Amino acid sequence: MALSGLKTLLEEAGREGRAVGAFNVASIEMILGCIQAAEETATPIILQAAEVRLAATPLDILGPAMLGAARAARVPVAVQLDHGKTEKTILKALDMGFTSIMFDGSSLPMEENIAMTRYFADMAHARGACAEGEIGSLGAGEGGEGGRAACTDPREAALFAARTGVDALAVAIGNAHGVYAGTPDFRFDILSDVSARCSVPLVLHGGTGAGEERFRRCIRGGIRKINIATAFFMADARARAEVGGEDYFAMSRAAREAVRRTAEEHIRIFGTRKEL
Ligand code: 13P
Repeated sequence: MALSGLKTLLEEAGREGRAVGAFNVASIEMILGCIQAAEETATPIILQAAEVRLAATPLDILGPAMLGAARAARVPVAVQLDHGKTEKTILKALDMGFTSIMFDGSSLPMEENIAMTRYFADMAHARGACAEGEIGSLGAGEGGEGGRAACTDPREAALFAARTGVDALAVAIGNAHGVYAGTPDFRFDILSDVSARCSVPLVLHGGTGAGEERFRRCIRGGIRKINIATAFFMADARARAEVGGEDYFAMSRAAREAVRRTAEEHIRIFGTRKEL
């Protein structure tokens, strides 16, 4: 019932000057904890899973659970494939009913990234779904795989958005996946330049550890979707470890509650929904 499109959620967030939390999940506890936080704050969220993580939680199993939870939620929830790399997985997610896919061509040369992102954006749109693309490089990928970080070029971003037709655009402004080694150094000047040149909603990857003040500045600068993954994986793992012993269901309850709390903290910083 509440399964929602990405574009609608990001446009609503834009009107209200907030961002939507895009929460990566890898277990039933994470799905339920995130949905509970969304319902308790009466604020839409995006549930997502990255292709690189599907070795642990296959899309055929995790996808229907994400979609089922989204349909049953009392607030709108979009379901997205995060960092899609292969046509097979992107197609599978779309056929399954995901309302959005991200194609990550950020490691490709610009023209190739544009061509491939356009191809997958058209594929998503033809099925009534949305698409996110990325320009600039975060360095480490969602699965920790290496690469060289390079901030988004604002002129290229405008060209990329216009030529691909994406509904959301991920930028590189000093953000990185995983736990930040030191204090994150975000280039807000680049963000505001990208924002001035692109009307498409902007996405911040690497949300874990960015901190409240940086989140708020990002939102003021035009970020409408903020991806959080590591914070949930750590919250779930830590909660289970703290329970210890062999009572599986006690661990499961603790994990779900830790995820719920983490999701709620982020939703409150990103902004709760004002329209109903
Ligand atoms: P973190 O793991 O740093 O929260 O990044 C998540 C992300 O960007 C998923 O695409």
